[in-house]
Amino acid sequence: MYYLNKSNEILKNNEIYIPGGVVSLNRKSDPNICFVKGKGSRVWDIDGNEYIDYQAGFAAAFLGHNDEQVNEAVKHSLNEDMLLMGAGPTELEGEFAELFCKAVPFAEKIQITTSGSEATYHAIRLARAATERDHVIIIQGGYNGWFNEVAANVISDLKDVGERVSPGEYPYDGLSAGVPDSTKKLVHIVNFNDLESIDFLLTKYPIACIILEPILQNIGIVLPLDGYLQGLRDRADRDGFLLIFDEVKSGFRHAIGGYQSICGIQPDISTFGKAVANGYPLGVIAGKKELMDLFVHPEKSKRVLIAGTFNAHPLNTIAAIATLKKLADPSYDVYNHVDKLGKMMEEGLNNILSPYGIPFYVSRMKSAFCTYFMDHQPKDFHDLAKNNNMNFDKEYRKRLIQKGIFNFPLPVKQGSISYAHTEDDIAETLAKTKIVLQEMIG
Ligand SMILES: Cc1ncc(COP(=O)(O)O)c(C=O)c1O
Repeated sequence: MYYLNKSNEILKNNEIYIPGGVVSLNRKSDPNICFVKGKGSRVWDIDGNEYIDYQAGFAAAFLGHNDEQVNEAVKHSLNEDMLLMGAGPTELEGEFAELFCKAVPFAEKIQITTSGSEATYHAIRLARAATERDHVIIIQGGYNGWFNEVAANVISDLKDVGERVSPGEYPYDGLSAGVPDSTKKLVHIVNFNDLESIDFLLTKYPIACIILEPILQNIGIVLPLDGYLQGLRDRADRDGFLLIFDEVKSGFRHAIGGYQSICGIQPDISTFGKAVANGYPLGVIAGKKELMDLFVHPEKSKRVLIAGTFNAHPLNTIAAIATLKKLADPSYDVYNHVDKLGKMMEEGLNNILSPYGIPFYVSRMKSAFCTYFMDHQPKDFHDLAKNNNMNFDKEYRKRLIQKGIFNFPLPVKQGSISYAHTEDDIAETLAKTKIVLQEMIG
C-alpha cells in the first residue's frame, strides 16, 4: 500500500515557517514527497517508499546519487581539515578550470559561481558590457534561472502569450511579481526554432544577446531543427550580438564537451551547472578569452563585477573535479552506458505505447527523455502547449510514482537516466509503465 503520511506531515510543519513549505517554488508539486536517502539510481522517501529515480535533482545527479568517487573526494578533504573559506586563489579552482577548459572545446577561460542562475546572470551582464547594448532575447518555454530578465514564459498559459504571430515576439509572461517594467521592456521572447522572429527583432532593437538552451530541456526534450543554431550563429556574427548557450542542463549530460561539442556550433559564452558537480552546487560561465577578461578589464567603466563569498566553494569544487575526472575516464565509459540505456528506454516505451493507438511521441537526447502525449516531436512551446494531453501526462506520472518510478509529477518534465542506472532498472521501469497504461486505458 502506497502512502505519504509522513511526507504530508513534514510539508504541513514546514509551511509554518517556510512559505509554501519548500525553498524553491519549482519543487512544489502534487504529490510533494519528502525524500531522505539516495544511492545510485534509487531514492527513498520518509515513509519508506523506494523509487527508481528519473528526476535526479532536476538532472544534476548524472553519475547517480552519492557517487562513490565524488563522495570519497569530499570526505577525504574534510578529514584533512580542508579550509572552507574563500580569501584568495586556491589550487582547486585552478585545477578545476584547467580540467574544464580542456573538456569543453569552446571554453578558453571560466568563472565559477554557486548556481546555474548566477552563471546565466553573469553571462547576460557580460554580453551587455561587451556589446554596450541592453536588449536581450529569450526563448518561450526555455528556463535560464530565476532573475528578472529570464524568469518568464516557461510553462505559460497560451492565453497569456497569445498565438504565434509571424514574425513576432510574445508578452513577458512573468514567473514573479516585482520585475520592473523597465526590465520587461528590454526582454524579447520568441519561440524556439524561429529565426524569422529573431530577424524581426534585430530590425527593431539593439540586441546584446540571445540566451537559450540549445535543446529545450525544461519542457521535455525539444530539439533544434537543422540549421537553427547555425542560423543564430550567423546572425550573431552579422549583427554583433552574442550567442549564449545555456548548458546548465545539457552540459556534461550529453557529452563531456557539452552539447556544443555535439552540434559543433560555437557560442560566444556558455553556462553550466547541475551535472558538472553531480549534485553539489556549482555554476560555470565559460567563453572566449577576450570576453572573459572583461571580468578584469583595467578600465573600471568596462569591468564586469563578479563576486560571491561562496564562489567555487572548496567542497563543491572538489566534487566537480572528481566528477569531471570520472566522466573523462574511459574505463567507466559513462557516455556509452547512458546512451545504451536511453535507447533501451526509448524503444521500450515505443513498443509499450504503440498498441494503444493514443497519440504519443518519445523524444530523447542520449540519457534525457520525455514521453509526450501528442503525435509528433514538438517543434516549440506553442506546438506542445496546444497538442500535448497535459491531464493524461499528469495522471501517468502520478500513477508511476505510486508504483515506485519517480519522474517529476508535472507534465512535460524531462526524465534523466544516470550512469548508476542499470538495464534491470530500465526493464523494471518499462514493466511498471505497462501496468500503469493498462490501468489507465485498459
Ligand atoms: C537550462 C537551465 N539554466 C539555468 C538554470 C538555473 O540553475 P539553478 O537552479 O542552479 O540556479 C536551470 C535550472 O533548472 C536550467 O535548467
